[in-house]
Amino acid sequence: GLEQVTTIAEVRKRVSLAKQQGKRIGFVPTMGYLHAGHVSLVEKARQNCDFVVMSIFVNPLQFGPNEDFSRYPRDIEHDREVAGAAGVDLLFTPTVEEMYPSTVLTTVSVTQVSEPLCGKSRPGHFDGVATVVLKLFQIVQPDAAFFGQKDAQQLAVIQQMVRDLSVPVDIVPCPIKREKDGLAMSSRNVYLSAEEREQALILSRSLQQAQAELKPGALAREVRENIVRTIETQPLADIDYVEILQYPSLEPVTTLQKGQQVIVALAVRFGHTRLIDNEIVTI
Ligand code: PAJ
Repeated sequence: GLEQVTTIAEVRKRVSLAKQQGKRIGFVPTMGYLHAGHVSLVEKARQNCDFVVMSIFVNPLQFGPNEDFSRYPRDIEHDREVAGAAGVDLLFTPTVEEMYPSTVLTTVSVTQVSEPLCGKSRPGHFDGVATVVLKLFQIVQPDAAFFGQKDAQQLAVIQQMVRDLSVPVDIVPCPIKREKDGLAMSSRNVYLSAEEREQALILSRSLQQAQAELKPGALAREVRENIVRTIETQPLADIDYVEILQYPSLEPVTTLQKGQQVIVALAVRFGHTRLIDNEIVTI
């Protein structure tokens, strides 16, 4: 059954007991308001590991001063039910005071991969993510950790950090989970009005449409322009970025080459809600 703990000391105790029993530890870090995307990570963790730890922590370090930290959706009762049903063994729900009892003077900064895409409009965001994820790894000490490709740049940042700092955790990427109509699942989708929700379908549709154009010899700039035009058909859509880059390096690409792995990445605002989506494709 599911056990919930709130302190670092309790997590360490439960995990070391599981390790003594020879169990492989899987870890799914989240900010809660759980949906089927999070559940798909837990399912992958259960296939790969014997003891699954999930954290729910809305990490203030990764939110900018004008972002939604205080109004980020929270529902711990619902989350406990979803986590239990998904097969999580240990749920770690620390307070901000437990995680950051005093001013944080030590942070992790991953350069280059954190700079394009969301890095441009969210300065410091990926330092906040890398710092909390490394700290959670030190607390949980998992064998493997599971991350969604929904946040493809976050995944690239974590993979880079783990390589650069020899962090002994296997990073397992998991595919994007979508609603039936194609909208990528996100805790932030609850912010959307009915009209915004309808127009937000243009994200997945424009990615789908671009698939056919992602062929050897195609110009990334032209594919990008077509996506921009498609998104601009929706009056409520306000584009933050549409980019095609190499993946996972996130370096620029001009003419697409056979065998190259690229990401088509989008961030679009609908009202106050900023949505992201992407497709990783091998040309
Ligand atoms: P959060 O947005 O709650 O996401 C937790 C994990 O779920 C991430 O790995 C994310 O990529 C994955 N995820 C979210 N939506 C998904 C979807 N539709 N399909 C598949 N996976 C999905 O990402 C964070 O929290 C935080 O930045 C965190 C890593 C916990 C650090 O604070």
